[in-house]
Amino acid sequence: MKILVVGSGGREHALAWALAGSGDNEILSSPGNPGMASVGELAATGVGDLEGLVGLAVSRSIDLGVVGPEAPLVDGLADMLAKRGIPCFGPRQAAARLEGSKWFAKDVMNAAGVPTARGGIFSDARSAIEFMEGSPEKFVIKADGLAAGKGVFLPESSLEAEAVLEGLFGGSLGESGASAVVEERLIGPEVSILAVCSGTECVILPPSRDHKRVGDGDTGPNTGGMGAVCPPPGLDADFRGLAKQLIIKPVLQELARRNIDYRGVLYAGLMLTGDGPKVLEFNVRFGDPETQVVLPMLRGDLAGLLMAAARGEKLPDLEVREGYCSGVVLASEGYPGSYRKGYPVSGIDSVKDAIVFQAGTRLEDGELVTSGGRVLCIAATGDVLEESLARVYGEVEKISFEGSFCRSDIGLTV
Ligand code: AMP
Ligand code: GLY
Repeated sequence: MKILVVGSGGREHALAWALAGSGDNEILSSPGNPGMASVGELAATGVGDLEGLVGLAVSRSIDLGVVGPEAPLVDGLADMLAKRGIPCFGPRQAAARLEGSKWFAKDVMNAAGVPTARGGIFSDARSAIEFMEGSPEKFVIKADGLAAGKGVFLPESSLEAEAVLEGLFGGSLGESGASAVVEERLIGPEVSILAVCSGTECVILPPSRDHKRVGDGDTGPNTGGMGAVCPPPGLDADFRGLAKQLIIKPVLQELARRNIDYRGVLYAGLMLTGDGPKVLEFNVRFGDPETQVVLPMLRGDLAGLLMAAARGEKLPDLEVREGYCSGVVLASEGYPGSYRKGYPVSGIDSVKDAIVFQAGTRLEDGELVTSGGRVLCIAATGDVLEESLARVYGEVEKISFEGSFCRSDIGLTV
């Protein structure tokens, strides 16, 4: 089948790679990146040009759209493709509110009896401060709307909490911060669950763990993710079953009760608390860099699975390989703050024992150069975690660009 992959990051490269390797599929990526050109064709339409993407899908007789980022889903790309009879793996606008509004997600979880932090929604600072009962260090403040990873705050003092709330309500994040969810701060290791959903049915992909802080030992500012492992070491063998019964199924059933038919991936960010797993957030898309380590663990017809979900059909199960996959992000010096672009990237061709997913790269006069903060994600499997990590770090050594850095403890911290 002909598949349109929308997006241009490491996650989309992993999707294009896995879909190209599963059955007889032709991949068209838009806008894609130079790495994705090696697994299919590239088109130039950007992720914000929804009409352009629909026009591309129609003119190229696309059988299935697979959408990477959340913004086009929240803006209705799946609905627009459906109107033209093109199945889309990615939920429609009504369902994408699970990511587009933290309060909508909380309301669905509360109605479905899904464990999550107790919270409230506020649009004035005074009520929000009152809710925190003088202990802001026990709460988290979140902009209700999409904030590209910049909308979660963990205040350590009342002064800080007030400044955050005044910033949000004063427009620092635009409409996204016009209301804020305040919820209890949870403690524990985090796990990401990616579930392929078709209405109330789902297939839970193997769990993974993202490393969000920029520095070793989980220090420094949060990033989009500096690396990931699948599965997280030490997790119960039946964690997928637990996540399905406790979280994903009840959410899908509650959505169905609200006449929302969820077709796409539901990403649950979980914290393993002393009282069991609790949901921190939902995303309506694959995680990045989780996807880069989860997809290499799958065997079988991924395209068939995504197509069945996009059509709302019964889902085939997918085989998961034994062992582990580890992924390490090579980033540009300065990231997640400001960084320079345009440095030549060398050594990718000499990598033999890992997969190199490209993210922040572009071609300049035929030469591969950096064009983003997270430049590459290098992923490798192994029978045990240590083997996959040794492979990845061995291969990372072969790649260089000016100012490149990575964490050296992916998979080793929680
Ligand atoms: P989110 O965008 O909601 O996933 O939040 C980003 C990060 O903030 C999460 O990965 C957690 O590390 C942290 N976080 C979010 N909600 C909570 C919470 N209720 N308690 C503790 N940490 C949280
Ligand atoms: N890795 C976190 C995310 O994709 O949201």
